[in-house]
Amino acid sequence: MMSDEKRASGQGDSLSPDEFRRYGHEVVDWLADYLSGQREYPVLPNRQPGDLMDALPAHGPAEGEGMDAILKDFREQIVPALTHWNHPRFFAYFAVSASAAGILGEMLTAGINANGMIWQSNPAATELEMTTLGWLREWCGLPDTFFGEIFDTASVSTLHALIAARERIAPETREEGAPRGLVSYASEYAHSSVEKAAMTLGIGRNHHRNIPVDAEFRMRTDLLESQIEEDRRQGYTPFCVTATIGTTSVTSVDPVAEIAAVCGRHGVWLHVDAAYAGPLAICPELRHYFDGWERADSIVLNPHKWMFTPIDLSVFYIRHPEILRKALSLAPAYLRTAEHPRAVNLMDYGVPLGRRFRSLKLWFVMRSFGRAKMEENLRGHIRMAQELAARIAAHPRFEVTAPTPFSTICFRLRADEATNARLLAEVNTGGTLYLSQTRLGDLYTLRLAIGNVFTTQADMDLAWETIQREAEKL
Ligand SMILES: Cc1ncc(COP(=O)(O)O)c(C=O)c1O
Repeated sequence: MMSDEKRASGQGDSLSPDEFRRYGHEVVDWLADYLSGQREYPVLPNRQPGDLMDALPAHGPAEGEGMDAILKDFREQIVPALTHWNHPRFFAYFAVSASAAGILGEMLTAGINANGMIWQSNPAATELEMTTLGWLREWCGLPDTFFGEIFDTASVSTLHALIAARERIAPETREEGAPRGLVSYASEYAHSSVEKAAMTLGIGRNHHRNIPVDAEFRMRTDLLESQIEEDRRQGYTPFCVTATIGTTSVTSVDPVAEIAAVCGRHGVWLHVDAAYAGPLAICPELRHYFDGWERADSIVLNPHKWMFTPIDLSVFYIRHPEILRKALSLAPAYLRTAEHPRAVNLMDYGVPLGRRFRSLKLWFVMRSFGRAKMEENLRGHIRMAQELAARIAAHPRFEVTAPTPFSTICFRLRADEATNARLLAEVNTGGTLYLSQTRLGDLYTLRLAIGNVFTTQADMDLAWETIQREAEKL
């Protein structure tokens, strides 16, 4: 009643509770149809830059509009301009999925709209974050000495790794600003987020070393160690090494145990970027890829990449949370609450103050799948990738250009770069599937990554037929 009165006066929410219920059901119906009917959409939209902006009004509406009109425009204008990341034949970058359970969790998070900056501002968010990340830590075989927290992306998780690494070696930074001459290391195949973190923190790109890799795209530990020694001789201060399990281009795995030994010898922080491959540690038979990560100082893995959780949700584990707290806690008077040993204030362990209730969707996903179904899905993706890699390798006109340890295949036509680039463009324009490309050294290479929970063997067969058919036309 109150809300009707308010609405009549021009104030209050734009929808009545009944309208919310009606349109809420309509949206869920649309999503249910979308999840089961995605194969009818072209994976990539047939749009030119600016098309959508030109079609939308240049000015926001002075008066509120009806939800029927808004949903109609969503269907007719927004959806055709979407790249369908949840499509079973989205194979570009790293394929991801918003599973049905994850979507339900995300909807509730939006409705609850609770901000978990401190324990008191949302005990449920804080404690569910601790609980789900404890479960995940156990599923991944990590010791419970790791403290977990959720950030939006792996880029932000890695930024926090470098913040903590710097705090350990240069605690004066908080008051005095960062000293010069700190040096960070990662392989030349590491994700750009590591270098970006160094840029963001004022370390400087010139003080980030890209260590060369071996023939299988793994960081050369001998070159890492000699570079650290050389930097020390030059008067620099090595402070952080990032090892990657599942590099972005080729999903190679750095020798983490060896790198951990180097870091131990030189007193350097070890951060492990397992943003893509991390969830595979859930499968016991794949655990050997993770040898040594339990010795890391910090780890990132992204359930929003390969754990069927809607973007965004990145998990950051850190062995020494007190270091991050020392670096970043700064509580203005309005956020101070009584100390309680079990009341964790997550704002103290990161740059953001406000925190979405992200753990809710992870909790939904972990409970709905359970460990067994999660493992089976991951194994299924790897099986489909291995099978396709074998078919590609057996084809006289194609070659596989890197090992396929997980679910990402690097391959190319035995032809020049321009022909491969045309093949990629033709395949993607057709809308049946979406691939991306990378460069391995000088070699232009196509990439097909499987990670969507809806992908079936029939999707893989259709993808491979389409690629071959387009190649024949060239
Ligand atoms: C290995 C690796 N690390 C980090 C990232 C960055 O992830 P995010 O988009 O969550 O920042 C990616 C993205 O693909 C990645 O492949």
